[in-house]
Parts: sequence; structure tokens; C-alpha cells
Amino acid sequence: PVFDIEHAKRILRDNDLGGYTVPTKGLYPFQWNWDAAITALGWMEAGDEPRAWLELEMLLKGQWDNGMVPHIIFHGEADTYFPGPEVWGVENAVKTSAISQPPVLATVVRILFEQSKDRALAEQKLAALLPGTIACHLWWYRERDPENTGLVCSYHPWESGMDNSPAWDHPLSAVPTVDWEYTRRDTGHVDAAERPHKHQYDRYIYLVDFFKRNRFDSDAIYKSCPYRVQDIGIIAILQRANTDLLALCQSRIDDDSTRSLQASSARTAAAINELWSDELSCFVSRDTLTGQQLKTISCAGVLPLFGELASPAQASAINESLDRWIDGAPFGLASTHPDSETFEPQRYWRGPSWLHINWMIALGLEAYQMPERAEQLKQVSEACLENGDFWEYYNSVTGEGCGGGEFSWTAAIALHWLK
Ligand code: DGY
Repeated sequence: PVFDIEHAKRILRDNDLGGYTVPTKGLYPFQWNWDAAITALGWMEAGDEPRAWLELEMLLKGQWDNGMVPHIIFHGEADTYFPGPEVWGVENAVKTSAISQPPVLATVVRILFEQSKDRALAEQKLAALLPGTIACHLWWYRERDPENTGLVCSYHPWESGMDNSPAWDHPLSAVPTVDWEYTRRDTGHVDAAERPHKHQYDRYIYLVDFFKRNRFDSDAIYKSCPYRVQDIGIIAILQRANTDLLALCQSRIDDDSTRSLQASSARTAAAINELWSDELSCFVSRDTLTGQQLKTISCAGVLPLFGELASPAQASAINESLDRWIDGAPFGLASTHPDSETFEPQRYWRGPSWLHINWMIALGLEAYQMPERAEQLKQVSEACLENGDFWEYYNSVTGEGCGGGEFSWTAAIALHWLK
């Protein structure tokens, strides 16, 4: 491999705080939802199967009674992150945030289950994880698509995991700014040129307050949240995870919950063309408050390949667009298309490449019988690792590492995919 396997394993061990792995020290000192799932893949490759399962069990310790798996689980205390548990105001025994994150969990459970050598442990852990994972999926469809449109919605850019994607610029501009002073901690750890702007943070924090003011009441928030977006990234990842979850349930669980998940998946497949843009030859997200598609070409718009939601014609249109996408930003796949006016190759989700996304897209390309393109994504991902470090994300034009260093999910996906 192009990277040092021992270094990647050491990152996981160093970031392990006893059953859960922080994404990176300082910047993200708790357990994050989709980071934890991706990181479990790394623990598996590091040869520690019990530890891989434990990462997911720890994540579900933060699950709410209604099924939501929060985006941050505050297992311990740390003063290097804002907003911490007191700002979120969630009173549960295990402190958490009040939003979720892309639900890649079930896909990871399936991979662990299929790869694990200790079959007795795998059966036992699967049985322990399935109920919570099913509850999480039921939550997405029940709470985030109460009108049964087939397209779940997100209440916060942080929920997308792609915080400052240009796709959110317009809907976020409709959100008021918070009316109290706060001190960001992220820009104390990372160059401000690689992070979101203050005008975005002011709105991120307004929304955090909004959920608390509404006492986390689902109906009230659905009716009045000033930000409500059908996020193509979440929708595609949920669809894939649902397929994986139903495969795991086969011959194990066959009840109202699995039948309901099947129906939800079918609704998503039937509705997905509402999020296709002929003009951009890509899938896009949609602002449910205005009904407008959010016309940004981003890596999220390619993820329907991973969710197997694209028609063959849509898949080949996307594949064609990847030529120019990768030519313009050779350490891709750039999170925003390099020809776009909003492209910034170093700023978080406005242009850098993210290796866990490349992995998901490569799986999607394989599902659509495009192995050469999948191989190209692997190569551009390896090129990012050639400078010898495992960064949070990479400048898609220069390959320079950005954001947090010694980063768990980059080390984990390297072990899982690029070893
Ligand atoms: C942050 O604080 O930047 C995180 O992305 C929120 O999840």
C-alpha cells in the first residue's frame, strides 16, 4: 500500500478513549455518528473484532427513546469543542446533540458481519445491534418524512455531515442569526480558511437553540423549523443502509418493522427523480420550504449510485461528468465540482476531497458496472495519502492535507479500502 499500515492502526489506538474513538484530538473530542461507523471498519482491519463491534455499541448508547441516533455522543468531558452538551440542552442520561447524521451504520454492520472471523461473536453482536439499527431507520422515515413523500428531510447542515456545502447556502441564509455571543473553538485548532465562516456558524447555533426552545418536539420542529432540506446525501446513504439492513434481517426478523422499511425504500425509489436535475446532469437536494432544487454539483449528488437509486441513463450521465470533475481537481473527488463558482479546494465541504465519500462512490460505481471509474477513484484517494499523513480531508487541487490531523476515519478507510 501507499501508506504506512502501522501508522494508520496507531491513529485508531491513540484516538481510542475507551470503547469509542474520537475523530481527532482537540477539534472533535467526543464520538461522532458517521465517523464511528467508518472507524469501526478500521478496527476490523486492524484485527480487533471485539473493538470494532464495541464502537457501534457505544454509538447506540446515545440513541434516543424515539430511535434517533444523535450526531454527537458526549461520553466524556472536554473543553476543546463548541457547542458542548450544555448548549444542546439534552437532558438524557447519556448527553448527546439533538440532530442525527448520515446513517451509514447498517451498511457497516453488514460489512463487519460478513468479514468477521469470529462467527459466534458476530452472531451475538448482530443480534444486539439489529433492534437499535431498525429503530434508527424507522425514526428517519417516521419523524423526517411524516408526509410519506419518500424523501426524508434534514434540519441542520451538520446533520448532512457536509456542513458548509454550497448546496446549503441559500436555505441557510433564510435562518436567523443567534442573538448571543459565543466563542468558536474549531478555528483554534484548524486554519480558518479550511472551516466555515462566522455568518454560517451564527445560523448553525441559532438552529441548535431552536431545537432546545421547541423542547425537541418532533411535530413542532417539523412544522416550524426555518431550515428543512431533502438532502440527497442522507437520502442515498439511508437507501443503501436500508437495503443492507433488510438483507441482515432476512431469515432473522420478519415483522411490521421490516415490512414498513421495505415500503419506505420503495417510496424513496419512486420519488428520487424529483431530485434529478437535467440541467446539471446530477442529483441535487431540495429546500422543502420553497420547493426549489438546490443547484449545486456536489459529491452528495453522486451518492445515489451508492444507494442504487440512479437509472442506468442517470448513472452514465454522472459518470461522463466525472471526467472534467477529476481533471479540474486531480486529488478528487472534489466535494464541490471544480468548475463551480463556489468551489474552494481547501474549505471543508466546498471543494476538498474526503476519502470515505470516495469509498462510497466507488462502491456505487461498481454496483453500476463501472469498475474503471471506481479504480480511478481509488487511485486519486491513494494519491492524497502519498504525503504520508491521514488528514480529515485533502485539498483537491494540490493534495495537501487539511482540517484535523491523525484523523480516525481517514486511517480507517485507508485500512479498509486501500490496504
Ligand atoms: C463541527 O463542529 O464542525 C461538526 O462538523 C459538527 O458536527
